[in-house]
Amino acid sequence: MKKRYPGIVMLFCHLSFTLSVHSQSSPDASAMQALRANLGNPINLEWSDPDPCNLNLVHCLNNHRVDKININSKNLTGSLHPELKNLSELTILEVSTNQLIGPIPSLAGLSLLQQLDFSHNNFSCIPPDFFTGLMSLQSIRLDYNQFSSWEIPESLKDASNLENFLATGANISGTILDFFRADKFPGLIHLHFGYE
Ligand SMILES: *[C@@H]1O[C@H](CO)[C@@H](O)[C@H](O)[C@H]1NC(C)=O
Ligand SMILES: *[C@@H]1O[C@H](CO)[C@@H](O)[C@H](O)[C@H]1NC(C)=O
Ligand SMILES: *[C@@H]1O[C@H](CO)[C@@H](O)[C@H](O)[C@H]1NC(C)=O
Ligand SMILES: *[C@@H]1O[C@H](CO)[C@@H](O)[C@H](O)[C@H]1NC(C)=O
Repeated sequence: MKKRYPGIVMLFCHLSFTLSVHSQSSPDASAMQALRANLGNPINLEWSDPDPCNLNLVHCLNNHRVDKININSKNLTGSLHPELKNLSELTILEVSTNQLIGPIPSLAGLSLLQQLDFSHNNFSCIPPDFFTGLMSLQSIRLDYNQFSSWEIPESLKDASNLENFLATGANISGTILDFFRADKFPGLIHLHFGYE
């Protein structure tokens, strides 16, 4: 009996060692778990590993922080979890051509974000503070969503590196051109919006 005891202790040590390696391996694990939990069809993603850095279509930096998520055209339902904004090193988020519903969550403060694609989904709205602090944003696609009528929020002025703003079929109202003529967007190359 006594001889077996150390073996059990060793097993426990091994387990706790494995768990602590996991939680250290990516500080983004819980936010990615929340994202997965709110997507209705995650079987299409084959996301089963608890370490987000091992997931298909997810890219991490050397520091094990998630920097890119590209889950376009995966027939995903459900919604995007509000704690996506915990992924503070995210640079690219693409969720185009799925059937996602509900509000696009605020990503305010994600200062490294460069590229966003929410196009061809069923999102219902975008929050007014969405663009607050998105100073690296170069490209955003919002085209073809079932938005209720909205105006471009003042917070877009933070995105002074914007090159592409695509929002055809996105139900924008208000004085769009006046907004973009304000000389706030020196790099703007593509501005598409309309009512198709
Ligand atoms: C997101 O960050 C907040 C504030 O730091 C924290 O309370 C929350 O638990 C985090 N959520 C997830 C899913 O990691
Ligand atoms: C997409 O999902 C729906 C159910 O949510 C299913 O009926 C359909 O076959 C799926 N299409 C593809 C291409 O996977
Ligand atoms: C998404 O919008 C399309 C087009 O309006 C509609 O046919 C489809 O039923 C909607 N899907 C969901 C999940 O709301
Ligand atoms: C645009 O928004 C209005 C008001 O929220 C809504 O009644 C209308 O159906 C929307 N139009 C489209 C094409 O989604």
